[in-house]
Amino acid sequence: MNGKPLIYFDNAATTHTPLEVLDAVRDYKERFNANPHRGAHYLGIQATELYEQAREKVAKFINAPSPQEVIFVKNATEALNLVAYSYGLSQINAGDDIVLCISEHHSNLVPWQRVAKLKGATLRYLYLTEDYTLDWEEVREVITTKTALVGIAQMSNVLGTIYPIRELVAYAHQQGAVVVVDGAQSVPHLKTDVQELEADFFVFSGHKVFAPMGIGVLYGRRELLESMPPFLMGGEMVEYVQEQETTFNEIPYKFEAGTPNVEGAVGLAASIDFLASVSWEAMQEHEDKLTRYALERLQEIPHLTIYGPQSGTERGPVMAFTIDGCHPHDVATIVDQDGIAIRAGHHCAQPLMHYLKAPATSRISFSLYNTKDEIDVLINSLQGVRGWLGYGS
Ligand SMILES: Cc1ncc(COP(=O)(O)O)c(C=O)c1O
Repeated sequence: MNGKPLIYFDNAATTHTPLEVLDAVRDYKERFNANPHRGAHYLGIQATELYEQAREKVAKFINAPSPQEVIFVKNATEALNLVAYSYGLSQINAGDDIVLCISEHHSNLVPWQRVAKLKGATLRYLYLTEDYTLDWEEVREVITTKTALVGIAQMSNVLGTIYPIRELVAYAHQQGAVVVVDGAQSVPHLKTDVQELEADFFVFSGHKVFAPMGIGVLYGRRELLESMPPFLMGGEMVEYVQEQETTFNEIPYKFEAGTPNVEGAVGLAASIDFLASVSWEAMQEHEDKLTRYALERLQEIPHLTIYGPQSGTERGPVMAFTIDGCHPHDVATIVDQDGIAIRAGHHCAQPLMHYLKAPATSRISFSLYNTKDEIDVLINSLQGVRGWLGYGS
């Protein structure tokens, strides 16, 4: 990149694809390409089997009670829209509260604004403590028996905070609310157990966990999914269609209209195998070390502010920062000259940016293939940023 070895610190946006995953996708396309669930021929049967095996693998990966509770979608955004349009519009009523965390990605915020507007519900927010996590006093004030639904990411894509989801779900359930957990950032870094979390809905995107783009997952509790109306209409999601009426297929197919992304599902299954081959413990230890090292070394940069937990609060390998007087886009462009890919902007979390009074930040995020040496190169590059922009130090 710009004549330098690439250092990729934009893993929260998307991860790179291991050879095992590329091979699995290629193998499927070369040997078994067909439309699943339709053909009675050999290829159609193989494609169906691979697609359904991928569903089983995902169910085990997140510890869903049954593969029927795993719905393949395009990405986390589509999964959240599915929940909002199907569950939200049918179950949330005028006078209900929808509670979100202020750090939500737009994907878990804008759909709920729409539901609130269409149904006459009220959107309420959970703000954060000084260490960028939930304030329990506020949680108890905001989540009440009026709350129909709580939406929260397990890990913030800006702050890196890992929120105490299990405790929050338990409290929300006591108040009678359903909880939608956005696992887009946590699934690549934490072992996921939807039953332990007691999540009602849980979503993630394949491309943030080493799979191809265009495949994502919605997990939902069976009773909820069965009682929900379909989201998209068309082929595959129906049972009987007459001129005026249609009955719908059972879950998960009720929510999978049209030809699915089989190669995406095959790639996601291969990425789950890839993760299994690495060991969660080793990966987490590595990423924790990188995160602690980066937090420590970033302090060396004059005039730098980190937005996110410094200590105490559980956090993942995602950190946002600003350097006084330097626009985050300039920071990203300057380090790009040294071959370092970082993100700059509002990270699809504008309400959080307003709350932090930071119109934009730079963000670095690690994956298992990053190293301490790469962090050293970043720190050297950041040391030069204010000089580049004409400041003395
Ligand atoms: C916390 C969080 N939720 C949702 C999304 C949306 O993911 P996608 O664009 O893959 O739908 C992202 C993407 O960055 C995210 O970080």
